[in-house]
Amino acid sequence: MTTVPMTHPERLAYIETFGCQMNERDSEIMGQLLAGRAYGQTSDLASADVVVVNTCSIRGKAEQKAYSLLGRLRRLKKNKPSLVVAVTGCVAQQEGQKLIDRMPYVDLVVGPQHIYRLPELVAEAAAGRRVAVAQSDTFVIPPFLPDIESGSTYKRFVTIMQGCNNFCTYCVVPFTRGREISRDFADILAEVTHLAENGIREVTLIGQNVNSYGLDHPRESRKTFPELLRAVSAVEGLSRIRFTTSNPKDLSEELMACFAELPKLCSHFHLPVQSGANPVLKRMNRRYTIETYLDKVAGLRKARPEVALTTDIIVGFPGETEADFAATMELIETVRYHSAFSFKYSDRPHARSSGFPDKVAEEEKSARLALLQKRLQEITEERNREYEGAVLEVMVESDAANRDGQWAGRSSSNHVVNFTGQGVYAPGQLVTVHIDTACAHSLRGRLVDEYVVR
Ligand code: SAH
Ligand code: SF4
Ligand code: F3S
Repeated sequence: MTTVPMTHPERLAYIETFGCQMNERDSEIMGQLLAGRAYGQTSDLASADVVVVNTCSIRGKAEQKAYSLLGRLRRLKKNKPSLVVAVTGCVAQQEGQKLIDRMPYVDLVVGPQHIYRLPELVAEAAAGRRVAVAQSDTFVIPPFLPDIESGSTYKRFVTIMQGCNNFCTYCVVPFTRGREISRDFADILAEVTHLAENGIREVTLIGQNVNSYGLDHPRESRKTFPELLRAVSAVEGLSRIRFTTSNPKDLSEELMACFAELPKLCSHFHLPVQSGANPVLKRMNRRYTIETYLDKVAGLRKARPEVALTTDIIVGFPGETEADFAATMELIETVRYHSAFSFKYSDRPHARSSGFPDKVAEEEKSARLALLQKRLQEITEERNREYEGAVLEVMVESDAANRDGQWAGRSSSNHVVNFTGQGVYAPGQLVTVHIDTACAHSLRGRLVDEYVVR
């Protein structure tokens, strides 16, 4: 796919992205496709000819954010009737035609599988036809090469699969992203090779359930996620590989072995636990117990002792008792996560748990979340202090030093590392930093050595 150079864009697109990395990558793809039709990108809503609202539906609050932007667009469109308003992402899939019916100022509703058709749909909308397109199960992710000219010069997301088959009872994703569809192995390698040849040093392989990569392909030609990791690792020029996200039930011995085998694989694993109580995990349909989860944590730490573990936790799932919540508080003391995202349970359309009895009161959820987050933050700071005195390999992320002469970068463990160094460094370059101080959300140190990768 080629991109028209954007010296004189004829028209402008404004793209707002909510939600996860899948949506971030989809927004980049949509931006690139629109650039191919001579749309430049703008960050000024008022000057846009097309506005794309790439939505997330994971919790009620996420969905509300999209609606509040759409409310502003209604007023904008009143003054500029030629404006094309497109709703994409998970709310688009969830609501479909209903959005067109309810919101006369919305022109296009495009589910996540149809982003590749955006330019032609925008052209239709500009000609006055309002359309909603939703998913089909025969979808195939098309071959696609990313644009090098726009976006990060050193790290990129690479989508390896779409959708999820797990049906955790609280989750909307299987309904908004559809069944698991793995991208063609050769297409992924072509994309990663293209990125590496153009100076990209770090790739993050993304999907809602990356451990299941390939399981939807015919057995004879199937490549598994560990096989994909090994192949990506062999691509010349890359220095770091990350991936996200995975359900602990599918974390295999073979994947753990990759952490022992593949030095480019970063020392970070996001392993969402959701709850520390087995009865809650069962009702969530997570299909692991805390005992098997802890075994996997131990296995990972054996394969790569310095691996930093992060997680997601939901508080106030229907029927969560005081004792269940106490089990979650105990679990975080056992695992001692390097950091964690935690959320109040939210009822979602189609999700089975929306119909479960014994909903936890809002105030109780808030109280539990506050307790949990306080302790999680303390543990993060305790963990950060463990790095004081350590020497870490850091990938430079800033283009220049800030006013205090500090550079910003990231460790393999995914910690933000601010460091002083007298030279001039390029984003994507690896340097060695001695950590002097741990902060609440980052580490601080000084450069002890640099080795240029690019
Ligand atoms: N595929 C990932 C999850 C992606 S959603 C996985 O299985 O780990 C990101 C996080 O949002 C989830 O891990 C969960 O903690 C949270 N989440 C999902 N649905 C939710 C809901 N209905 N209410 C509250 N939090 C939710
Ligand atoms: Fe949702 Fe569960 Fe799939 Fe994650 S694994 S996307 S939480 S259904
Ligand atoms: Fe949100 Fe959809 Fe991602 S619901 S978290 S944007 S898959």
